[in-house]
Amino acid sequence: MRITVVGAGYVGLVTGLTLAETGRHVTLLDVDKGRIERLQRGEPPIYEPGLKELLAAQLAAGRLTFTTRYDEAVPGRDLVFLCVGTPSTPLGATDLGQRAAALEAMALHLDPEAVVVIKSTVPVGTNRWAKDMITCKRNRAGLPSDRLAVASNPEFLREGSAVEDSRHPDRIVIGATDVRAFLLLERLFAGSGVPILRVLPEEAELIKYAANAFLAQKISFINLMADLCEASGADIRRVAEGMGLDPRIGPRFLAAGLGFGGSCFPKDVRSLAHQLKAKGLSAALLEETLRINRNRVSLALRKLNTALGGVAGRRIAVLGVAFKPHTDDVRESQSLKLVEALVAASAHVAAYDPEATATAARLVPGVQWAPQAEQATQGADAVVLATDWPQFSELPWERVLAGMRTKVVLDCRNQLEGAKIASLGARYLGMGVPQAEAFGQERKPPPGGPTL
Ligand code: NAD
Ligand code: UGA
Repeated sequence: MRITVVGAGYVGLVTGLTLAETGRHVTLLDVDKGRIERLQRGEPPIYEPGLKELLAAQLAAGRLTFTTRYDEAVPGRDLVFLCVGTPSTPLGATDLGQRAAALEAMALHLDPEAVVVIKSTVPVGTNRWAKDMITCKRNRAGLPSDRLAVASNPEFLREGSAVEDSRHPDRIVIGATDVRAFLLLERLFAGSGVPILRVLPEEAELIKYAANAFLAQKISFINLMADLCEASGADIRRVAEGMGLDPRIGPRFLAAGLGFGGSCFPKDVRSLAHQLKAKGLSAALLEETLRINRNRVSLALRKLNTALGGVAGRRIAVLGVAFKPHTDDVRESQSLKLVEALVAASAHVAAYDPEATATAARLVPGVQWAPQAEQATQGADAVVLATDWPQFSELPWERVLAGMRTKVVLDCRNQLEGAKIASLGARYLGMGVPQAEAFGQERKPPPGGPTL
C-alpha cells in the first residue's frame, strides 16, 4: 500500500512512523518547512518516549520520505491520512482552517481510487463535508471522483505514550460508507489483534468526542469529590480506590489533582458542547466539567495564599509545567496556568520541567527557568508539584526541604507521601487528602463537618 500522512505533529508523525515500522513506505507531508528539514536530519520536533529511536530506524530502513509539497506526496497513493490540527476558535467551536486547507490542497492530486482517511478529531458531519468538497473541486476540474472515498479513523493515542499506544491500540474505529474503504483499512490494520469497529462516519466522529469528554468528565467528577473529601476529613485516594474496584467504573482516570490539560480534552469538550448547542441540545454537563476544571488552578493558588499569608513577593518553586508527564507539550497545561497565575499575583516563580522548559519559556515571561529541580527549590517559600513526573517522588526531599526558606509543599497531583514530608518538618498540602499533621492520629471530622 502506498501511504501519505498529512500533518507531521504528535498524531501524524507517530502514525507515519509506526506504519513504516510495519514495512510500508510512508510519505510525511507538513507545511512547516523547518519541521520537515529537522525530520530529514533525523531530529524529532517533539519529545515522545521512543520516538527518536523509531525515526532513526525507519530512516535507516529507507521507508520514509518527507516533503512540503502536495504534488509530490499525494499522486499515486492508496491512502492519504489527514492528521492536521483542529484547535478551538475563541468561542469554543472547532477551527477547521487547517483541515480545509489540507483537503483543498490535496483534492486535485488524489488518485481516482484513493481513500482519504481523516484521523484528526473533527466535528460530526466533517467526513461527509470533505467528500462533497473534494468531489465538487474535482468535478469543476473535470477529474473523476465517483470511486474516491473518505473514511474516518479517529486516533486514541495519549501523549507521553504515543508510540506505544500507536503500536498497540485498544480498538480501531473505521467510519465509512464505502465497502472498499473498509476493506483497505481492515487490510492495513490486519494483525493488530484488537477489535475493529465498522461504523458510519458520523458515529466514528462522535465516538472520538464522546470518549474524550467522558474521560474529562470522570476527572472533573473525582475533583469535585476531592473537594468534599477535604471538607470532610476524608482522603480522595481511598474514595477513588473504593469506587474503582467496581468494574463498571474502573480505577483509571480517577486521580484527583490540578485537573486536565493538553491539546485535546479541553478543546474537545468545548467543541462537543458547541456541537450539542448547535443542535439545540443542552451542554450543561460539559460546561460544568470545564468549570470544575478551571477552578482547580484557582484552588491551588488559594491554598498557597492561605499557607503563605499571600504569595506576592514570595519565592515559589514549580516542579513540572508540561500538561502531563513524559511530554514536552504545554498546550492548555494546568501547571503552566498556575505559573501564570502566580506571576500575575507578583510571586517570584522558579520553575523546572524535565522536557518542557524550552517550550514553556517562550510562552511565559517573568519566570526563572531552572536547569535542575533543586536549583528551583533552593531558597523557596513553597514547592509546588504541578506535573506528576515520576522523578519528583524520588527527589532527596530531606535536602530539598533543608534548602528552603519556608517549608511548604503543595502536591497538586497527590504524588508524595504526605506523612513523610510532614515528618521532615514541612507543611504538606495535597488536593483532597487530609493534612499531613493529622496523619497517624485518629481521624476526626473537622469542626462543622459531617456527623460520622
Ligand atoms: P499538531 O499541532 O501537533 O500537528 C499538526 C501538524 O499539521 C503540524 O505539524 C502542522 O504544521 C501541520 N499542518 C497544519 N496545516 C497543514 C496543512 N494545511 N497541510 C499539511 N500540514 C499542516 O497536532 P496533533 O496534536 O498531532 O493533533 C492532530 C489532530 O489529532 C487533532 O485533530 C487532534 O485533536 C487529534 N488528536 C491528537 C492527539 C494528541 O495526543 N495530540 C491524540 C488523538 C487525536
Ligand atoms: C487524551 C486521551 O487519553 C487519548 O485517548 C486521546 O487520544 C487524546 O486525549 C486526544 O484526543 O488527544 P492525552 O491528553 O494525551 O490523551 O493525555 P491523558 O493521559 O488523557 O491526560 C489528559 C489530562 O488529564 C492530563 O493533564 C492529565 O494530567 C489529566 N489527568 C489524567 C488527571 O488529572 N487525572 C487522571 O486520572 C488522568
